[in-house]
Amino acid sequence: MRLETERLTLRSWEERDRAPLASILGDPEVRRFYPSALTPEQAGAQLDFAMERQAAVGVHFGAAELRSTGRLVGLIGLAWIPDETRDAIPGRPAVEIGWQFDKSLWGQGLAPEGARAWLEHGFDALGLSEIVAFTFRGNLPSQRVMTKIGMTRDPAGDFEHPRLPPGHPLRPHVLYRISRA
Ligand SMILES: CC(C)(COP(=O)(O)OP(=O)(O)OC[C@H]1O[C@@H](n2cnc3c(N)ncnc32)[C@H](O)[C@@H]1OP(=O)(O)O)[C@@H](O)C(=O)NCCC(=O)NCCS
Repeated sequence: MRLETERLTLRSWEERDRAPLASILGDPEVRRFYPSALTPEQAGAQLDFAMERQAAVGVHFGAAELRSTGRLVGLIGLAWIPDETRDAIPGRPAVEIGWQFDKSLWGQGLAPEGARAWLEHGFDALGLSEIVAFTFRGNLPSQRVMTKIGMTRDPAGDFEHPRLPPGHPLRPHVLYRISRA
């Protein structure tokens, strides 16, 4: 699995990604809209899970590498939404798009650039009819990316994330959708 954009290579995970991914996901600022930053062990488990999913179902959030340097700068891609989460979202959407980037590169439009390539792949190569994105309602940077790539907020799709306990401040989520043109 490999996609090229102007500045990014989007590809499957490799063993050499383990340390740089742990550094990105271990950053409390990158993780400020998640329950916690990840330890290297937790980031490694996430990498293992992503590799397994990519092997089993073809896609999962993948690696984003800067073409100019070969450096891993984030994770981005499409993923099949787990049943527990689907059940909490009106309409039970199937596939989401998501992203997390190294904060030293924020503000350069890299996430939308990578996301546009993933949307095109999802609609044209995978034949998906709809892709959604969701995030904590206070995560405005991520919602900006959703808007930039042509997604539309669906207020009827707001939901409480089932993987967080009732009353957790990060539990309220907003939903954005985009359908194949
Ligand atoms: C969301 C994220 C991937 C955006 O990536 P990006 O490549 O910076 O995207 P953009 O350059 O298009 O910037 C998007 C918005 O981020 C915000 N932003 C930009 N630079 C920023 C910075 N240094 N600090 C905080 N926010 C910033 C701006 O609101 C920007 O919108 P604008 O272009 O209208 O000003 C990135 O902020 C990130 O990794 N955040 C932490 C992980 C996360 O929350 N992931 C989403 C979970 S659903």
